[in-house]
Amino acid sequence: MKLAKDVYLSDGRVLLLAGFIIKSRYIRKLELFNIPFVYITEEEPVALTEFSEERVYAEAFNTIKSVMTSVREGKELDIAAVKDTVDDIVHKVINNETVFMQLTGIRDIDNYTFLHSVDVCIYSVITGKKLGLNKEELNDLGIGAVLHDIGKCKVPNEILLKPGKLTDEEFNIMKLHTVYGHEIVSNTPGLNKKIANIACQHHEKWDGSGYPLGISKYQIDKFARIVTAADIYDALTADRIYRKRDMPHMAAEYIVANSSILIDPEIASIFIKNITVYPEGAIVLLNTGEIGSVIEANKNMSLRPKVRIIARKEGPPVLEPYTVDLMHDLDVFIIDILS
Ligand SMILES: [Fe+2]
Repeated sequence: MKLAKDVYLSDGRVLLLAGFIIKSRYIRKLELFNIPFVYITEEEPVALTEFSEERVYAEAFNTIKSVMTSVREGKELDIAAVKDTVDDIVHKVINNETVFMQLTGIRDIDNYTFLHSVDVCIYSVITGKKLGLNKEELNDLGIGAVLHDIGKCKVPNEILLKPGKLTDEEFNIMKLHTVYGHEIVSNTPGLNKKIANIACQHHEKWDGSGYPLGISKYQIDKFARIVTAADIYDALTADRIYRKRDMPHMAAEYIVANSSILIDPEIASIFIKNITVYPEGAIVLLNTGEIGSVIEANKNMSLRPKVRIIARKEGPPVLEPYTVDLMHDLDVFIIDILS
């Protein structure tokens, strides 16, 4: 279904714009903001194409959800399903790495771990492609990334889902998900050592301050170093129940600040150029109160895109949309993503 009218929040902010196709994640958003109904146009519903990125994303989510659920129940890891879904992601990314960027970063609390696993996979594969990995390597990297937290299936739910801060003892048990993950991957036929290393080493840090081994720099497998960057970035930019997500430029600052401390500097630099971007079509709020749609990322200044202004938070409506180029107007910046 397509929205016939803009959807506003009670404080006047625009949540969704007329013309948007209503996707399941928008419905969750509408529920979150207690919006009881919306107006829709009477056009025929638009069918998803067979191999659309939304379908690939949805399948990846379903695969990792069923894999983690069955491993938690003591069953074997269905590696064929994981390989198929990662192969689709790699295929899409090889053809166009920005393709998934409008789907990542959306979270609901029940599915946090599964959505996080898919996003970490997508960011890792894009970074790996930019680092020059071949298709086979990208597939291993993607499988390791989507399974990086598989060891959490062996951590008791009381600890995993505890709403408050973990005690030292609980945190020590939580840290063991890396060791459990290594064990699960190593015991699964068809998965290699590089994939097991990702499960084991994705919390190791460049300066040696991570866990479980406290290894540093090039002692850490390159694929695990990529997944670490993706894991950190995704945790910062996704909405959590207790914390509003960071904007891409804020997360980018964190990655720059931790380059050569927590994160491999080469990977941090590739990450900043390619992942920390505002996706085309994102509806953003500027510090000027103008609301617009990102129309084009500026080369080498991915955090300062061109924005087509369509509304204002306050004041008169925008009758004639106009473009603001954040590369030229350096006093203007994005303060929120509305949709
Ligand atoms: Fe983890």
